[in-house]
Amino acid sequence: MSVELKKEAAAAALELVEEGMRLGIGTGSTADEFSKLLGAKVASGFKITGVPTSERTHALCTSMSIPLTTLEEMPELDMVVDGADEVDHQFQLIKGGGGALLREKIVANAAEKMIVIADDSKLVDTLGAFPLPIEVNPFGFKATWKAVEKACAGLGLEGPLNLRGGDEPFVTDGGHYIIDASFGHISDASALSDRLLNIPGVVEHGLFLGYADVVILAGEKGVRQL
Ligand code: 5RP
Repeated sequence: MSVELKKEAAAAALELVEEGMRLGIGTGSTADEFSKLLGAKVASGFKITGVPTSERTHALCTSMSIPLTTLEEMPELDMVVDGADEVDHQFQLIKGGGGALLREKIVANAAEKMIVIADDSKLVDTLGAFPLPIEVNPFGFKATWKAVEKACAGLGLEGPLNLRGGDEPFVTDGGHYIIDASFGHISDASALSDRLLNIPGVVEHGLFLGYADVVILAGEKGVRQL
């Protein structure tokens, strides 16, 4: 996705942000474009209060002088604007390519509305071509890995699992590891979600089901709001 398309999707989302909003701010290269545009608007006097979904977004927003707070101070938000790795026609998402899925989901759950910004290549008929990030506690993660394999096999999902970062595991803002599961095709996202969340070592997964309210897709032919 070109930076231009990311900016176009971000600009369309910014139009939905109203003065005074309590706003969740997403993570990733598309969300970064949103933060930059938001920062410019704030610099011209627009008032919002943001809650970032990652340390990375916190640093970017701070550099743009966007007023920030936490969910401890502000546990209910009006809206969150975030990117996605895949979106299907039911507005089910795969997120977590940037490793921020846990905070992103906590923030999305605290927000009344979720606006997703992406390029139109991320719209898919069936989720799963993008590897599903599964955030796991480092304690006993190999046992969790086995449990994930078993649970997924029960749904006919047998694609390879990879520890993000390999020998030097990627560590999330919450201090966890990520297993990326390449299933290819997830026909029942809801059943998979239930199975994964039933495994004690699984902290969260990147299936966002029932969160997205508006999807803004930028493409060669312009910006579409679904
Ligand atoms: C980070 C995410 C991102 O929103 C997702 O990976 C999309 O990123 P990008 O806009 O860079 O394609 O879920 O955890």
